[in-house]
Amino acid sequence: MNIHLIGIGGGHPDQITVQAIEKLRAVDVFIVADKGASVGDLAAARQMILERHHGGSYRLIEVPDPQRDRSPRQYQSAVSDWHDARARAYAEVLDGLAAGTVVGFLVWGDPALYDSTIRVVEQIAAMRKDVEFDVTPGISSVSMLAASHKLVLNRIGGPIVITTGRNLAADVAAGLDNLVVMLDGNLTCSALTGADWEIHWGANLGTSDEKLVAGPLDEVLGDIRLARDEVKSRHGWVMDTYLLRRAGR
Ligand SMILES: C[S@@+](CC[C@H](N)C(=O)[O-])C[C@H]1O[C@@H](n2cnc3c(N)ncnc32)[C@H](O)[C@@H]1O
Repeated sequence: MNIHLIGIGGGHPDQITVQAIEKLRAVDVFIVADKGASVGDLAAARQMILERHHGGSYRLIEVPDPQRDRSPRQYQSAVSDWHDARARAYAEVLDGLAAGTVVGFLVWGDPALYDSTIRVVEQIAAMRKDVEFDVTPGISSVSMLAASHKLVLNRIGGPIVITTGRNLAADVAAGLDNLVVMLDGNLTCSALTGADWEIHWGANLGTSDEKLVAGPLDEVLGDIRLARDEVKSRHGWVMDTYLLRRAGR
């Protein structure tokens, strides 16, 4: 059984690559995690991509996403248990499919960045010896952020670190001063005012509701909060990513 993991970019049907379209067209059954009503727009974007680019017949099987343990125990082990539960749920779906069915997973942005699908499918392939899988890259929110702000992420010859809101404080304490921050529902950067940071922030990048704010963190934090709340109240969800860079270095 072949499984294609396909990066689809930020959801706009123009943002998917030709290579991804070719993979998508070979798929008979798409397996998607059903994350409930809160991500209705994302499901609609996925549907739009399939309608525009698949062109043939396919089935979409929605698999209820297992609950993640959010109690304050070890984050790593909670996430790893969640991956195991996902792998078991998807493997059960595969058991019900005819041999030779081509299965696809559509992955938001790029599958290599803060997404568990590769790890979960790796687990399935370890359980079932008849499974082979491949990965097609997609345009990540990091690329979209840079393009929308017309930015080069690294300083000349310098490093760029991609991190999460959860790790930001530790990364800054370790001396990092040029970072892209993802998975930060709490605007953790709010704790960094008064230290000469510049921010380039983007929400719902690649969609018709894209919002951008840039400037000295101390000056624009209020604008970012307002823009974030506005997008969230309009759609019920907001996804944002930002570059944080110490000014003048
Ligand atoms: C689970 S990660 C998935 C990342 C995805 N694989 C990628 O390549 O962009 C979700 C995080 O990606 C970022 N993100 C995803 N889509 C975004 C978008 N359209 N606009 C801004 N940030 C986005 C946000 O930081 C969000 O918390």
